[in-house]
Amino acid sequence: MPADIRGLIFDLDGVITDTAEYHFRAWKRLADEEGIPFTRADNEALRGLSRRESLNQMMKGAPLDETTAQAWMVRKNDYYLEWLQDITPDAILPGVPSLLAQARAMNLRLGLGSASKNAKLVLDKLGMHDTFDVVGDGYSVVNPKPEPDLFIWVAGGLGVYPTQAVVFEDAEAGIQAARHGGFWSVGLGDAVGSLSHLRLPSLANAVLKDILASL
Ligand code: BG6
Ligand code: MG
Repeated sequence: MPADIRGLIFDLDGVITDTAEYHFRAWKRLADEEGIPFTRADNEALRGLSRRESLNQMMKGAPLDETTAQAWMVRKNDYYLEWLQDITPDAILPGVPSLLAQARAMNLRLGLGSASKNAKLVLDKLGMHDTFDVVGDGYSVVNPKPEPDLFIWVAGGLGVYPTQAVVFEDAEAGIQAARHGGFWSVGLGDAVGSLSHLRLPSLANAVLKDILASL
């Protein structure tokens, strides 16, 4: 177990709440309207990637001029925002409130590191706008995951070194970002690859002391 853990940094989409389905429906609607083949499996590869990189991957190398790319990203986001209206605190994933309470009881600092430009809106919808000491989102840094910049930005705000923080992620790009930054990492679900220090199916029934002990 790392001796001196002082902070936890959480990804949002797929860790705190499951917005992946809404992202999928929004990309799928755009893709269908534009006649671009796009499947659920294609969407899995977009987990954790920025809106821009997601569009690049959806295009699979087909050329797209910048004006159209910008317009499509706005359209996709408008579709996403329509569905986001339905989100309530019931959408917080099982185990998350308990884990956050355990962390607070251990006096750990709490950060959010999300690639999403909608992260603060999602936190508001979940009733979590004041849950985290530092919120890093799609506006915080230039280089998105898998670069480590966002987590380093959040750690700086928390006043902890990467070696003193654990990142919780559901995406391979996020685990890569954590590892590149020198953080401890917990991978959740099937899409995280093999790089994380610990893998769990989800945070349901998670016991923080056990997680820290098994890193
Ligand atoms: C990540 C999601 O958290 O945010 C990605 O996993 C999404 O699917 C990315 O593309 C960017 O989100 P947004 O809300 O800025 O389009
Ligand atoms: Mg995620």
